[in-house]
Amino acid sequence: MLKSHNCGELSGKHAGQKVTLAGWVHRRRDHGGKVFIDLRDREGIVQVVFNPQVLEEAYEVAGSLRSEYVIQVTGEVATRPKGTENPKLATGDIEVVAKEILILNPSKTPPFYITEDEEVEESLCLKNRYLYLRRPRLKDNLILRYRVTKFIRDLLDAKGFVEIETPILIKSTPEGARDYLVPSRINPGKFYALPQSPQQLKQLLMVAGFDKYFQIARCFRDEDLRADRQPEFTQLDLEMSFVQMQDILELMEELFTSLVKAVKPDMRLVQPFPRLSYREAMEKYGTDKPDIRFGLEIRDISDIAANTDFQIFRSALDNSGKVKGICVPGCGHYTRHQLEELTDLAKSCGARGLMTMAFTGEAITLDTVKSAAAKYLGLHQLEEIADRFQAKPGDLLLIVADKPTVINKTLDELRRRMAQRLNLTDANLLAFAFVVDFPFLEWNEAENRWEPMHHPFTAPRWEDVALLDSEPARVHGQHYDVVCNGCELGSGSIRIHNRQFQERVFSLLGYSKEETESRFGGFLEALEYGAPPHGGIAIGLDRLVMLLAGERSIREVIAFPKNQNAVDVMLDSPSYVDKHQLDELNLKLKREVIRSQ
Ligand code: AMO
Repeated sequence: MLKSHNCGELSGKHAGQKVTLAGWVHRRRDHGGKVFIDLRDREGIVQVVFNPQVLEEAYEVAGSLRSEYVIQVTGEVATRPKGTENPKLATGDIEVVAKEILILNPSKTPPFYITEDEEVEESLCLKNRYLYLRRPRLKDNLILRYRVTKFIRDLLDAKGFVEIETPILIKSTPEGARDYLVPSRINPGKFYALPQSPQQLKQLLMVAGFDKYFQIARCFRDEDLRADRQPEFTQLDLEMSFVQMQDILELMEELFTSLVKAVKPDMRLVQPFPRLSYREAMEKYGTDKPDIRFGLEIRDISDIAANTDFQIFRSALDNSGKVKGICVPGCGHYTRHQLEELTDLAKSCGARGLMTMAFTGEAITLDTVKSAAAKYLGLHQLEEIADRFQAKPGDLLLIVADKPTVINKTLDELRRRMAQRLNLTDANLLAFAFVVDFPFLEWNEAENRWEPMHHPFTAPRWEDVALLDSEPARVHGQHYDVVCNGCELGSGSIRIHNRQFQERVFSLLGYSKEETESRFGGFLEALEYGAPPHGGIAIGLDRLVMLLAGERSIREVIAFPKNQNAVDVMLDSPSYVDKHQLDELNLKLKREVIRSQ
């Protein structure tokens, strides 16, 4: 090794020892005739001091150092003189008095500061990812990610799970996104699909008898990207035979609880993890991935609105809509400008408008309730509304009268925005919750057909099967989600393990017999060979680490993420390929694509 110790491991107990360190110049300061270098490696930072009285030559070389030069230093660990300790640095009680220095490699000036945590333009930090990863925050995030996966592997191993890899070149799996396709050279005209998840493969492993399987699995989905979505991402994928929903949820609760204790002992949890039905989640929070760290729950005032002559309420109710809102404490003083901002936010969610109602006085009177609706509502109705929200003097109601889907989207957004503004989102709290009792199917208005709420392999609640043909909307699925702080962390279900029943569900979803056979023939056949009852779940590992790291985007916990357009700007991928490669694959680009190259 070119070094005897790591920078970050040195402490007072090394005082007097000769050490050799190697790392990057984090900072250089010239001070009082000496040169001070903060030397950085993966384990941390230590101060190295170059004193011309100790060695003139080393002092001179140190003077020529610039940020991010790679150097090797040999010297003696010394306790820092009293009053010069740096409590912000883990090694702040000591310094290394340099005796020798060697420049192992100089560095160009980086396009952004490694030492600061200021925001860097996205294209720069993605293009120079290896430099961005030198920042202590990013480095810590990746190490945290490693600790998380190691913890998960150890825990599942202790519980008798076996980690099994499944192929990347597979056939399309319906998870609701577009597939990434890979043309086959050996089989002209045919394509592999990259797995959106290993769903069918893990079920086949159950048929094979591996009754407790997991995998840290890479998944690929060609979908619109967001802060919590990447085209390729990682799941903790898990499947078990002979289980019921309860078993999976208990395992998840144990896993998350012990994981947080191990890797983030300062973070708090809500225990036991609350369970919400899908309906309760939608009614209280307008979303199936609620942030339950704070209240601001949605209340329905459609019944009160129905007794008013207020046109906006009436027309929503006449069009199968509802009138719902949230009560924001202490915001009754909001200015017209602030209210307009909230109205714009509501409109950006598709709402026609936002009705605000401020309770500005101790008593509810027609004068103290400030709202465009006040003059259309009687005092009694205002009191009823205040009572429904348990509104106090100084509170502000945000009310939307619209179609339920629009109301949910708008109030979910307003709830999150207001919670952030009012500092209700405790960064040290991880509020995990399970959402259960999902509908089995969802009606796709645009395509006029049923879609699975989760995926087509999910079993309905067995007691609802009788309703499947007559009233499919009333059937519940054996599907469960894990959510945390407003983020969908994972999804899973008890699966269908019988061929006839799986075929019946495919047919309900509108798949023809031929399509079912060509897409799922092999899978269906496997179900005929003694497939055990089974179920599982997949947790988004990137999202989990993002929450544990306190980051707002999964890009901050992925070593080499893609940008918003699914481009790897560092490696310049995707990129054009040579014509002969296309010829080998029997592919021909459209003329207009060639022209734009
Ligand atoms: P689902 O499609 O809900 O379920 O995915 C499970 C979890 O994977 C994460 N996730 C993503 N993370 C980052 N970027 C993406 N593009 C992305 N898409 C999904 C989320 C999500 O909750 N086969 C089923 C699981 C099962 O039934 O066992 C599945 O994949 O955290």
